[in-house]
Amino acid sequence: MGKHLKIVRGNPLSGRVELPGDKSLSHRTILMSALADGTSRIRNCLIAGVTRSMMQCLTDLGVKMNVFNADACSAVEIEGVGLHGLEQSDSPLNCNGSATTMRLLAGVLSGQSFASTLDGSPQLRQRPMTRLIEPLSHKGAWVESTGGRAPLNFAPSRLRPSDHVLSVASAQVKSSILLAGLYTDGPTTVREPHRSRDHTERLFEFLGLPIHHGGEGSEGHTVSLAHGVEKLQPLDAALPSDPSSAAFLMVATLLIPGSGVEFPRICLNPGRTGLFDTLKQMGADVKIRGQGGEMGEPVGTIRVTNSRLEGTTISGSTVARMIDEFPVLAVAATQAQGITRVRDAIELRYKESNRIETLAQELNKMGAGIEPTEDGFVVRGPVRLTGAVVNGRGDHRLAMSLAVAGLVADGETIVEGWEVIRESFPSFLHIMKQLGANIAW
Ligand code: S3P
Repeated sequence: MGKHLKIVRGNPLSGRVELPGDKSLSHRTILMSALADGTSRIRNCLIAGVTRSMMQCLTDLGVKMNVFNADACSAVEIEGVGLHGLEQSDSPLNCNGSATTMRLLAGVLSGQSFASTLDGSPQLRQRPMTRLIEPLSHKGAWVESTGGRAPLNFAPSRLRPSDHVLSVASAQVKSSILLAGLYTDGPTTVREPHRSRDHTERLFEFLGLPIHHGGEGSEGHTVSLAHGVEKLQPLDAALPSDPSSAAFLMVATLLIPGSGVEFPRICLNPGRTGLFDTLKQMGADVKIRGQGGEMGEPVGTIRVTNSRLEGTTISGSTVARMIDEFPVLAVAATQAQGITRVRDAIELRYKESNRIETLAQELNKMGAGIEPTEDGFVVRGPVRLTGAVVNGRGDHRLAMSLAVAGLVADGETIVEGWEVIRESFPSFLHIMKQLGANIAW
């Protein structure tokens, strides 16, 4: 295995490829299975850096689990300990770089009868946690941070009913509060300015928990858990594949002449399909065929064919529906005719890297000419990308987007720090190669 990832423009991409299970659903089903009464079996679960962090934290809290076929999409069997069966860990729980692990566990740890600490990598320690600490504290949780950042310390506390208005749409924060609601005698309500991905609510509903929705429209979205519960049922499910992983391969397919690829069993939760709508609006040939559902999530096959794209504007509620897809959207925009503007996306500054800056800095080394703004960026396409030495900056989605850019650039592209891709999509490079990409690592 070489040190760097090398990419050269090459053949069209073609084929049909099954992708690993959705990252958000993997996190949630692993966690809910750990809290269930009985043994759960999750197939097509994402086994990657971020979900291993979740599994290790739960193991440290006394949960037993087994991973079968430890490749990117395997089955996981989890012996649930019940909502009140977690055990205190001797040492801080290490979330590594996974914000989802930290934020979801924070809600659960708020409701325990023992103290605990959540910590992570230097990168995770930089990410904002006040947005989480504030509503959990309002709910009665005892949470102490280091200036609004991890490490986070929790002490036993009695949670109370709450009604919280989030200033930013965040599925992680919303989910954390709803998970704390499982330990609350009375209602837990969360109001968001825009509806973020609702996997937690759907999973709660699937498990028969009393979830209610309201207030859709310009006032945002409201979700309530009517009261805490005593027991959770174990799960037996095959997770749909990750639309955010599909995004990289879809954009590569759209940009490389002669390409056509099909992706079966993709999760089509409306909170995740913003990129598909945006690409269609840009003129992309993206065909979606519904295939029913799994655990309350819509699922379908996506067929993508190389297309001529036009610039567009992305703002408002669409931003939350494609919050992880902006690095690869930026690559698509460099090849589109006309201007692409992204607005209302200041949240991009608080992801695995400050994506507004890092995506402009790295893609501009290839001649992309991306102009960062306070809450987004502007791309003036089409531009001719040139191969360069670029860096993933510790951000899996940036590293994969740079690899996609390399497939349409003149000359050779080298992605330094590509190993971070293993955080969310360990089979990315193998799949790209299998589809025909000219890459070596
Ligand atoms: C996620 C929510 C999003 C997203 C992340 C996964 C989740 O984060 O960026 O990759 O699983 O709830 P925010 O809640 O910070 O927007």
